Amino acid sequence: MIGIIAGTGLEEIEGLQARRELQIATPYGPPSAPIRAGELAGVPLAFLARHGRGHALPPHRINYRANLFALKQAGVRRIVAVAAVGGITTGMRPGRLVFPSQLVDYTWGRDHTYADGGERPVVHVDFTDPYCEGTRGMLIDAAIATGIDAACDGVYGATQGPRLETAAEITRMERDGCDIVGMTGMPEAALARELAIPYACCAVVANWAAGRGAGPITMEAITAALAGGTADVMRVLVRALPSLHAMP
Ligand code: HPA
Repeated sequence: MIGIIAGTGLEEIEGLQARRELQIATPYGPPSAPIRAGELAGVPLAFLARHGRGHALPPHRINYRANLFALKQAGVRRIVAVAAVGGITTGMRPGRLVFPSQLVDYTWGRDHTYADGGERPVVHVDFTDPYCEGTRGMLIDAAIATGIDAACDGVYGATQGPRLETAAEITRMERDGCDIVGMTGMPEAALARELAIPYACCAVVANWAAGRGAGPITMEAITAALAGGTADVMRVLVRALPSLHAMP
């Protein structure tokens, strides 16, 4: 099964056939929402709303460990994480899709590992390349094939939220090499790696990051940009799913 972790702007997936709901308990508590399983483009899919039903969970309250563990339990072998982000560098304009290849983690205080003492032995997973290159490549191919103008590379900076950043924080992030900024990319990507699930991110730029656009960032502008971007995400997913499913 292919897992889709969906964020702001994509709480529900349209066109899912043979839908059923999976209630999965984990040693870490319940996931954000029941997993919706079904088929899209003939491919078995497990869909999880990262922020829960009704978008009730802020980024720092999401039980990332339960989410990833539940997807693994459901039989998910590959994950595409859809995430709204702010655009920092040139070209990362609202509405654009970005497939990041690297990340920088600025989050704190989140349950960020399964190697947390207790009975599990300590493991230090390799995280040199935080995203699965094969999965990323399939998403990029699908975007090109559907004629969507996407950024095929970029560095994702994961911030704590839920507040947006200051202009100076964004300037610092740009100095650090970040192209886009979001609040949920970590520890999600690292937990997927610990569970050995190939994971890639399809980011949708919702707004210019703080200090990069004209005036303050409004929820109205974010919602408007996400509407167009989310339609592109669906086109990429439908196109990419058969090849993702065929990957070993
Ligand atoms: N910053 C952090 N996270 C975000 C943003 C942002 O500007 N936009 C959407 N998610």
